Order: sequence, then structure tokens, then C-alpha cells
Amino acid sequence: MDRLVTIERHILNQEHQHPEATGVFSNLLYDIALAAKIIARETRRAGLAQLLGMAGRINVQGEEQMKLDAFANETLIRMNAESGRIAVMASEESSGIIPIPEAHCCNGRYVLLFDPLDGSSNVEANVSVGTIFGIYRRISQSGPGTLADCLQPGRALVAAGYVVYSTSTMLVYTTGRGVDGFTLDPTLGEFLLTHPNLRYPSKANYYSANQGNQQYWSAGVQRYTRWLQGMDPDEPSNPMAARYVGSLVADFHRNLLAGGVYYYPADIHNPSGKLRLVYESAPLAFVAQHAGGLASDGQRRILDIEPDSLHQRTPLFIGNRELVERAEQYIQRYDQL
Ligand code: AHG
Ligand code: MN
Ligand code: MN
Repeated sequence: MDRLVTIERHILNQEHQHPEATGVFSNLLYDIALAAKIIARETRRAGLAQLLGMAGRINVQGEEQMKLDAFANETLIRMNAESGRIAVMASEESSGIIPIPEAHCCNGRYVLLFDPLDGSSNVEANVSVGTIFGIYRRISQSGPGTLADCLQPGRALVAAGYVVYSTSTMLVYTTGRGVDGFTLDPTLGEFLLTHPNLRYPSKANYYSANQGNQQYWSAGVQRYTRWLQGMDPDEPSNPMAARYVGSLVADFHRNLLAGGVYYYPADIHNPSGKLRLVYESAPLAFVAQHAGGLASDGQRRILDIEPDSLHQRTPLFIGNRELVERAEQYIQRYDQL
């Protein structure tokens, strides 16, 4: 058997390639991996907790049992707030920036943004959920981190990744030099490198979108969907299979492994779509880009969008490069902008 590479070993190997590295960034990645293990453990017990009627009751520590998304949020905050590595954080589950206590913020060089539990509506049905994260360098000079630190475009990310809690727990991340995937071995409690240098396969198999919204989509997106199904009379194509979990992380992950495109477009009720730019779209766009794929809002590259506000939404087309470019072409050709 090949030598086992744990995520710790892998992070250390990468650090050694950067003589200027101080280890702070490596430790930040360890903190995230540990938070992922804690969330994974709780996710596995979530169904049981519900079955045993524990939700809303008091647990053994005398604390109120939390919903899983609140638990995941608290875990990520707790693991990072006092590490001294982070200047400021923001989360889909928290309304403003999450300030770091004065004693711990001021030497923190990094900014952490996350969607603690993606696909949370799937928890009750025992369907895959995930965590998405992005890491930036702070741009403020000193003192507590600021809102501006959190509103950087995706192209400034120094690392991004996701965790998918499913039949296995997997952590996938990139620091801009290849995308690597790790699977949690529950007997060892370690993430092991199982998917080194992930790249989109050249042949795409799947398209993923909530087609219940189709009637509300623009003409360009509807026509693009027909093309994906092999039904555009002017542009012959092979029909692709549809797969839609409804957890972005799970849909994104499957499409990265098998080739495909995920889209959550604007519709007449939601002119900016549903997904959040800084917590969901930008970090996954960074991963997609470094796996040879692409992410767009239909007109602009996701990584080039300068956020105006923390909870800003954006349409998202993400996956194999040529499928995303084709979405842009359809939108340009058929939508009245
Ligand atoms: P979250 O659970 O973090 O709010 O995200 C849910 C998102 C995303 O994961 C998923 O792809 C999408 O919402 C599903 O939305 P629809 O139910 O509208 O298809
Ligand atoms: Mn989400
Ligand atoms: Mn969420």
C-alpha cells in the first residue's frame, strides 16, 4: 500500500515549499480540519438526536441542544476566535462581522469567511450537507479586522475549500496550487489524502439545477437548459443526466469528480439568485478555477466580483469550463440585458 498521507503531513509538506512561511497559515488549516471533524461527529448523531427527542432539550453539559447549523457556526467560531491567527470572521449564520476578542485579533493576519452548514434543509432527511470556507489576508493595517477585510473579491483568496458530510466525510481545499481531497478515516480520526490534484474530467456527465424554478428563469437560461438536455434545435448536443441534491457542496463535489455544471440562476422573484457571494460562490469558484473549471454569474467571472455587502447574493454557474462559458453565451445571445 502507498504511504498514508494525513492532512497534517500534507499541510506541512506544502509549508516546507515556502521558506518564508511562519506556520500560522498551516495552523489555521489544522483548526478548520479539526472543526470539520467536530461537525462531522455531530452530523452523524443528528438523526439520532431527533429520534430520541433531544432537540430543544438540555444536554449533559447543561446546555440547550442546538440545531446543527447553529452548532456548526459556533464550532467554527470557537475554534478560530482565540487562535491569534484571525483578524475577523464572517458567517452566513451571523448577521454582521464576527469580531475577534481584542486580546486575540490584533496580530491576526487572516480573514475567515464560511457557510457553516450548507444544505441544512436536507439534515432531516439524512441527506449530505457541507461546510464552505474562504481565507483572505487582512487588508486593514492593524487593530481589529474590519468589514472591508471581509469584502474582498474572490481572486484575492489565499485558500478555499469545503467539507462534505456524507457516507464519508471529505475535506477538499486549495491554496492555489492544485486541489486536494482528504477522506476522514473514522477509526483513525484522521483526514487521509485520497484525491490528490483533483481536476474536472474533460467529459462532463451531469447538470444540476432546481428545475422547479424553470418557468421563472430568463430566456437564455431556459434555452441553455434545453441545450444541456440535447434539445436545442439549432445546436445539437448529447443530452446530459440531471442530478440535484439541493446541497450546493454535494452537487459541486459530484460534478467535480464526474464532470458537470451546477447553476442557480437569477429568476423573476430573485433577481440575484439565491446563493451568497462571499460564503458560497466565491470560495467554490476558487476551488473550481484551480481544478481547471470556471464560475460565472452569467456575465462576469465570480472571482472578479467586488462584494458590496456581506450577505450579497449572486447567480451562479459553476463546473466544467466549457459548460459555464456556454451558459454565458446563451445568456448574452437570448437575454435582454
Ligand atoms: P444553506 O443551507 O446554506 O442555506 O444553502 C442552501 C442552498 C444550497 O446548498 C442549495 O444548492 C440551494 O440552497 C438549494 O436551494 P433550492 O431548495 O431553492 O433548490
Ligand atoms: Mn449554503
Ligand atoms: Mn448554510
